[in-house]
Amino acid sequence: MSSAPTPPVAAPTRAVGGLVGRAVRVKVPATSANLGPGFDTLGLALAVYDELDVTVIDSGLEIEVHGVGEGEVPLDDRHLVVRAMAHTFAKRGLVLPPIRLVARNSIPHGRGLGSSGAAIVAGVMAAAGLLEGVEAFSADDLLEIATELEGHPDNVAPALFGGLTIAWTTPEGPRHKKLIVHRGVSPLVLVPEHEMSTALARSLQPAQVPHEDAVFNVSRSALLVAALIQSPELLLQATEDKLHQSYRAEAMPETDRLIKALRTAGHPAVVSGAGPSILVLASDPSERPDAIRVAEDAADTAWQALALAVDFKGATVVPADA
Ligand code: HSE
Repeated sequence: MSSAPTPPVAAPTRAVGGLVGRAVRVKVPATSANLGPGFDTLGLALAVYDELDVTVIDSGLEIEVHGVGEGEVPLDDRHLVVRAMAHTFAKRGLVLPPIRLVARNSIPHGRGLGSSGAAIVAGVMAAAGLLEGVEAFSADDLLEIATELEGHPDNVAPALFGGLTIAWTTPEGPRHKKLIVHRGVSPLVLVPEHEMSTALARSLQPAQVPHEDAVFNVSRSALLVAALIQSPELLLQATEDKLHQSYRAEAMPETDRLIKALRTAGHPAVVSGAGPSILVLASDPSERPDAIRVAEDAADTAWQALALAVDFKGATVVPADA
């Protein structure tokens, strides 16, 4: 799990009173970003979740992590959810109060399934939930704060809003459009045992690409939106990409090999986010068993196959019992 360094924000000056005992429960889906041609732009929310309870307490910082990341992630103010909460409070000039955080995580870390984006969104949503009635946050505010922490909006947008999201940046901040995918679209995620660093994957990208490759990706990403919401039979062509996957292939050779095998067999397979997991955007649930067989035949190591539903709701925050 990684993220951009916390961006500078004016040091918070005010403590907000009356929050002790407030508690919220937050649930955030996994996400797959890029979807082939939509680098740093398209993302899909998937029905695997991290869930957290956050309670404002009298003093200290208490963190418990269960499930994914247990015994691995720091249990202090370096914890990404806590950093995201502190950043959200600081954006309104407020100091994060003492909290108790209990996380139950299911989103695999370092596999290209948006675990850092989910942790950031969890922190932003928990902060907004605890500040209910004190500070208001619009959808654009939530996306902006989460994107500042993640560095790019394509994971945090679907984690926040669910479904298929198109995210883009403007001088006023990031914006998004949520779309509901065609009911036939049936994601299959193949997860290897090894991790991949997003920073390493991004470092392999050239600063410039040939104009014809840019045009290639403009055509495929436009087609991909149509394929995902209306014409899933076009998904194999619509998931072609020349902007990122070939540059990163050397860092994840088995991912590259499996994707080629899957695509040759007619399955719309792409790198999920920065990898190393693979997302197959099957156009019908009945295609998934064959995709699993093709991947098993081509793989040298163990890969976990997850047939997942699309999450249409995005992150939720509700009051909880303290
Ligand atoms: N768009 C991002 C990338 C997603 O591919 O680098 C992973 O964070």
